[in-house]
Amino acid sequence: MKNGQIWLDDQGKLIQAHGGMIARFGSRWYWYGENKDAPNCPGTTRVDVIGVSCYSSADLRSWHDEGLALAADGSAPELHPTQVLERPKVLFNEKTGKYVMWFHSDSPDYTQAKAGCAVADAPTGPFRFLHAMQPNRLDCRDMTLFVDQENRAWLVHSANWNKTLYFSRLTEDYLGFTGETYATLIDQEREAPALCYRDGRYYSVTSGCTGWSPNAALYAVSPHVNCGWKLIDNPCTGVEASTTYQGQPTWMFEHEGQLYLMLDHWKPHDLRHSGYSILPVSINGLTMEIPWQETVLEEEAP
Ligand code: GAL
Repeated sequence: MKNGQIWLDDQGKLIQAHGGMIARFGSRWYWYGENKDAPNCPGTTRVDVIGVSCYSSADLRSWHDEGLALAADGSAPELHPTQVLERPKVLFNEKTGKYVMWFHSDSPDYTQAKAGCAVADAPTGPFRFLHAMQPNRLDCRDMTLFVDQENRAWLVHSANWNKTLYFSRLTEDYLGFTGETYATLIDQEREAPALCYRDGRYYSVTSGCTGWSPNAALYAVSPHVNCGWKLIDNPCTGVEASTTYQGQPTWMFEHEGQLYLMLDHWKPHDLRHSGYSILPVSINGLTMEIPWQETVLEEEAP
């Protein structure tokens, strides 16, 4: 797969899973993301919401379209195509046996800033929309989900008009909030959070706040998930580091002991053709490096 490009599924169709995530549930990988497979609304940098796509794969290379896991079918105001539904993320809850999706749910002018929640019995859905809310009365724009080493699940969301990144703890069933919430990277104006854990430390990679335009990513490190975060540096290298290789973080995952960062390469005026990258992440204590590489997860030569 060529990084920075559009990617095709096993039928030769555009993979539509932007602002997404890749996770393994059982024996398969699943990729969820925004389906933007429509022309931009004329003169704008938006497409009407179609829903959340789900693709599955045995090997992270060949992706099968499982259809819409959550459709913007107008069955709730938040699922109306004229709204905003971005950055969907899914966790499996072992206690309830359900798949739980959270996403950034908003009005077209981004003033509602809520977190939306949907639930399903199978990874491919269909997900049933439950509710959208402001977690602990905080706004929620760019967001991700993260389960820490103590098995606590968090919605990690840009709040206070993107000034501060909050960790809001999910309830045991992952369907709501406990009220426990922590401000991190205070006043640092970070968004597009992606998180991971390695050898006693938590790491986040975030972008700055310049909308669809790429900017420099920064990583932060902490021994605790809910406090002690320090912004360290840009993990990217070389001349394109200042634009995160023209991309924006969305998720980190691990495969065979290797950590990877997923990027979106937005095309604001042709969003359906936005590209993807998956880049290996190397971590050594307080140092994180994410060099550019042209291809990823290619078949090894026989
Ligand atoms: C970006 C954000 C995207 C989308 C976009 C809209 O900053 O990361 O998810 O919300 O703004 O302009």
